[in-house]
Amino acid sequence: MIAQAQNETIVALKTENLVNPIGIDVDQPRFSWQQQSKREGAKQVAYQVIVGTDSVAVANNRGESWDSGKQSSDALKASYGGQALQPFSRYYWKVLLWDDQGQQRSAQQLAFFETGMRKQENWKGAWISDDNGIAVKPAAYFRKQFQTSKKIKSARAYIAAGGLYELYLNGQKVGNHRLDPAYTRFDRRNLYVSYDVTQQLQQGNNAIGVLMGNGWYNHQSTAVWFFDKAPWRNRPTFCLDLRITYDDGSIETIVTDKSWKTSLSPIIFNSIYTAEHYDARLEQKGWNTTTFDASKWKDVIYRSAPSTHVVSQVMPPIRNVKKIAATSMRKLNDTTYVFDFGQNFSGVSELHVEGKEGTVVRLKHGERLYDNGHVDISNIDQHYRPTDDKDPFQTDIVILSGSSDTFMPKFNYKGFQYVEVTSSEPIDLKQESLTGYFMHSDVTPVGTIRSSNPVINKIWAATNQAYLSNLFGYPTDCPQREKNGWTGDAHIAIETGLYNFDGISVYEKWLADHRDEQQPNGVLPSIIPTDGWGYEWGNGLDWTSTIAIIPWNVYLFYGDATLLRDSYDAIKRYVNHVEEQYPTGLTSWGLGDWVPVKSKSPVEFSSSIYYYTDSRILSEAAKLLGKEDDAEKYAQLADKIKTAINQKYFNKQTGIYGEGLQTELSMALYWGIVPEEFKVKVADNLAKRVAADNFHLDVGLLGTKSILNALSENGYADVAYKVASQEDYPSWGWWIKNGATTLYENWNIGSERDISLNHIMFGEIGAWLYKGLGGIKPDPRQPGFKHVLLEPHFVQGLDNFEASHVGPYGEIKTSWKRKGKKVELTVVVPANSTATLHLPRQGSKALTSGNYTFEWKE
Ligand code: BGC
Repeated sequence: MIAQAQNETIVALKTENLVNPIGIDVDQPRFSWQQQSKREGAKQVAYQVIVGTDSVAVANNRGESWDSGKQSSDALKASYGGQALQPFSRYYWKVLLWDDQGQQRSAQQLAFFETGMRKQENWKGAWISDDNGIAVKPAAYFRKQFQTSKKIKSARAYIAAGGLYELYLNGQKVGNHRLDPAYTRFDRRNLYVSYDVTQQLQQGNNAIGVLMGNGWYNHQSTAVWFFDKAPWRNRPTFCLDLRITYDDGSIETIVTDKSWKTSLSPIIFNSIYTAEHYDARLEQKGWNTTTFDASKWKDVIYRSAPSTHVVSQVMPPIRNVKKIAATSMRKLNDTTYVFDFGQNFSGVSELHVEGKEGTVVRLKHGERLYDNGHVDISNIDQHYRPTDDKDPFQTDIVILSGSSDTFMPKFNYKGFQYVEVTSSEPIDLKQESLTGYFMHSDVTPVGTIRSSNPVINKIWAATNQAYLSNLFGYPTDCPQREKNGWTGDAHIAIETGLYNFDGISVYEKWLADHRDEQQPNGVLPSIIPTDGWGYEWGNGLDWTSTIAIIPWNVYLFYGDATLLRDSYDAIKRYVNHVEEQYPTGLTSWGLGDWVPVKSKSPVEFSSSIYYYTDSRILSEAAKLLGKEDDAEKYAQLADKIKTAINQKYFNKQTGIYGEGLQTELSMALYWGIVPEEFKVKVADNLAKRVAADNFHLDVGLLGTKSILNALSENGYADVAYKVASQEDYPSWGWWIKNGATTLYENWNIGSERDISLNHIMFGEIGAWLYKGLGGIKPDPRQPGFKHVLLEPHFVQGLDNFEASHVGPYGEIKTSWKRKGKKVELTVVVPANSTATLHLPRQGSKALTSGNYTFEWKE
């Protein structure tokens, strides 16, 4: 008993969903924590949050900024409710927790958060740039030297940019972020990033260096979406405040102003979309250190800010998360080598090379090889519209200095498995000469799947690899051909994302991008952010319902209604627009079941189901936010849409929707269109349809979301598993059998078009493994896994299966295995939550928190 009690602790203290973040500017930061305990029924009965700027006082339970007082509550979160927060301040906080045994506990260490600018007026620097135009290719260096005489206590750098930056202090790169700041609609909102740079500064002479890249801000490459014509396009610009606090309490801020100097850098070309070119001969050694002579550098110019809305970037940054060694290298001749990384991923390669001065080395990145061993990019370059041969697709160009050179792009990433290195003069490369780095938003993994079927395990891994390859501060469709924030792909993948990764803050940022892009009439573009492309194509209900579906799922997974509240007006405007345009309740605005196997369901059917879903979410959100009239109004609208769909598409005699295709039957079931009394019949028809299709998929993007769930939720988990675990065409396993390490865009591997090899759009299977086999689901009535619905399915063909998800209360786990004729199930329910375990033919069991094992005969 006592030993157990000692194990109990408070963990995962977060502010705004991040651990000890810097640059929190909201008025009421959200605090959260977890009570870790293996004790059955462990529970918090009260909490007290204490916040203050004096860590010793907070440690002694004195919060001069806020003391919530002892709150009788089992909530593991609270929003700051104290004195107005000051800018540039570190606030320490702790939580006291009283448990059901009367014990009072707190975490060993204090948590903290730091405010940033808080208000636009607090910026002291000016936006600067060099005086080059948008067509100038080389990236610009900026530098400033300054003196400090007093002892430095702490220092923070705040930097906002149009474009991408790398920041250096005294020759060292600040932080390990990549491609900062994240992409936004630059003329409406700019992100700034905060760093603790106390360690990099020195008393005396200091040098700040900034290297500016184009990113999406100055898109020089030309492709079908016209990012080169973006309304915000300009030469990169930035604003920086380096705020130094001295030991004596005085403060000095070094800012961007006319005293900075600029020069062009050896990065002679950089495009977020295509590649980066680097001339090692143009290196200016020590350009970002104090000993450098910058007398030949030019003056900077002042620029207006890209927008007047500069806000803190509050989310996990993009990083070089994983280093990937080449698995093989083939030398085709002394100027051609092909490297294979053994897996498809998003990111960059880093080259170490020595060669004759002026040798031009090209690194062409692709996902496929031709039969002759060369890299084939024909599946990913078809939307590219180059105007000359100077900017080859996914091909970095390096000009060698004559001594040893290292190159890794700073302002570009790609999607690839293979790299073909060609050189103008012979060079000698080894397998170690090229290293891959898997880059993505560095979200924390929160889910694990393990099973007795290696193909299922590989599908799960490939799904995560594709998901991460498409997370760069906004969700994308693919990391090579487009890098676009395709809305449809992202809402289909939302549950896969949230079961596997702690991504709430990326989605909160992306929904702010949605609000930036929404037209006054409610319309959203199909890709977000956008230069304007996508308001006319692809932006129907089946894609842009992100505006409702993403906040709703974040609410279900985190139990936090903030994003729903922030998006409420946008969802309402969106739904109102559709209602005005389509008064009958049916809408054919959409693309339909994209890239299907063979059958295509009517667009009106699927789009109207998304319209129904949005109205229902809006009504639920209204209820939550206390807007009774709206709750009623949109519930009625949802009913009207459902009735219209059923009247037109449902045959009550046969229990068939439309022609009875997989997508038609499964979407109707999954999205709650089927009248209660017909569910069994429709599910039965779906199972028959799937059997008639030889237990193989016949769906596209929209159908993949519903097919497995509709089966397993309606008594056909075995059928769902049969479909999910197929290993021949068309199936996920077919890709895996053909060597896939990511998900593809097309069921047909031999397809001539729509065949990116790193797409997340067919990724719902990643979520289904948790839901359909592990049976772990959030309960909309007690979201955030406060109450967990547990409905594992012990399907034929699997000997064991384990699903684990760390939610806001801690780890939830189901693990089952066959032992002869028996099945053994272990369940973990975290403290402060409850679960209802539902087993076929066994009924339901209510569980409090704890670890359980059950065993029974099948
Ligand atoms: C993208 C898709 C996207 C689709 C919209 C494609 O080019 O790659 O994933 O959703 O267009 O139709």
